[in-house]
Amino acid sequence: MHFDAVIVGAGAAGLHCAAMAGQLGARVLLLDHSPKVAEKIRISGGGRCNFTNRDATPAQFLCANPHFCRSALARYTSADFIALVERHGIRWHEKHKGQLFCDRSAEDIVQMLLAECAAGGVQRRQPCAVHAVRRGDGGFELDTDGGPVRSPRLVVATGGLSIPKIGASDFGHRLAARFGHGIVATRPGLVPLTFAAADWAPFVTLAGISLEVGIEAGAAPARGRFVEDLLFTHRGLSGPAVLQASSYWREGEPLRLDLAPGRDLAAELLAAKKGARRQLGSELAERLPRRLAEAWLAARPGWAARALAEMRDAELRELADGLQAWTITPDGSEGYRKAEVTLGGVDTRELNQQTMESRRVPGLYFIGEVVDVTGWLGGYNFQWAWASAAACARALGAATATGLQGSASGI
Ligand code: FDA
Repeated sequence: MHFDAVIVGAGAAGLHCAAMAGQLGARVLLLDHSPKVAEKIRISGGGRCNFTNRDATPAQFLCANPHFCRSALARYTSADFIALVERHGIRWHEKHKGQLFCDRSAEDIVQMLLAECAAGGVQRRQPCAVHAVRRGDGGFELDTDGGPVRSPRLVVATGGLSIPKIGASDFGHRLAARFGHGIVATRPGLVPLTFAAADWAPFVTLAGISLEVGIEAGAAPARGRFVEDLLFTHRGLSGPAVLQASSYWREGEPLRLDLAPGRDLAAELLAAKKGARRQLGSELAERLPRRLAEAWLAARPGWAARALAEMRDAELRELADGLQAWTITPDGSEGYRKAEVTLGGVDTRELNQQTMESRRVPGLYFIGEVVDVTGWLGGYNFQWAWASAAACARALGAATATGLQGSASGI
């Protein structure tokens, strides 16, 4: 068996890269230690896979080297992936802010990628763990469960650290470090945030409540601001608003929340005050979910039952300001067990942005989430997986076509 490239990791990026490189003429071997391919695609988007975002641009990605992702995203766009999905007759719909989901099931995307791999003559071995990787004269030598493998080109597509129980590992980070690559410190992203029990006690009863909020985390230039839905949980905050903000949040820093975005609560309450006999509690419950209004006023004994007309203007302003500039400091996150992505990873300053090839080790490539490029919630992370895979696949195809290097072989 001769291979032009071995790809480790049959997730989103590995499958797409293998399929494209195969169809460009490269003989590709794809290995994964899990029994099934692409488990993260299957569980993504609530089982419907938010497979891209129609409006993806580099602005929705976090990276220590912010311009790195430009080239790959420009050369393989969401329109390219939509065209592929449509060629396979997969029906899809737009849900919210450019987020595209399968009508039926995420399994459609998995089967599409497998069909594309078959069309490219890709060989797959699963479950097949890789125990050692050495660099020799002819390229890379891998000790695997399926025996030794030699290849002039090695693509690392082993993803991030989130959800270890479905196959996530630090293989890619360890391998990169061993070949001299810097690793941008990793941490969970798109993850619910938690609070110390004492800080959270007033809000525990709100678990299950959701409302649209403005949210802000981080400091310039890495500041994230979003208007999205927030979900109260028993241990803290979740929902799209907090998942988005979590990628910008650093331990010890506060979150800033506006519980009535796009409105001026102080002006509303002052206007409503004139001649009003209604109680403050009822008035606030018209503007916020009732249980949230009650919990908020519980910290101010007696206020809920006071007539609005009797409230001082300064008191109403202070109340409204508290709701529209709520500052609260998480004590942590739900971690990789619940995180959708891993922030940080292989430092892009040592990768070629056109090809994803290592600048240190010719023939070694890193694609997908293992790289320090992390997208917002909303299909951006899959778009990065497809785009970085496509950039690498083109390079593999070109190298095979020009026959610059020898072929790989099972030893
Ligand atoms: P991915 O994780 O897909 O694949 C890595 C592969 O490498 C896996 O098959 C794994 O088994 C294999 N592997 C790991 N270590 C190995 C080793 N040592 N040896 C051999 N193989 C190894 N994004 C998005 O854009 N839209 C969405 O709807 C969602 N939804 C979502 C939900 C949930 C619950 C999670 C956890 C994540 C998402 N994401 C998402 C994020 C998205 O799933 C993720 O960014 C991509 O799958 C990354 O693609 P990769 O191919 O880089 O890694």
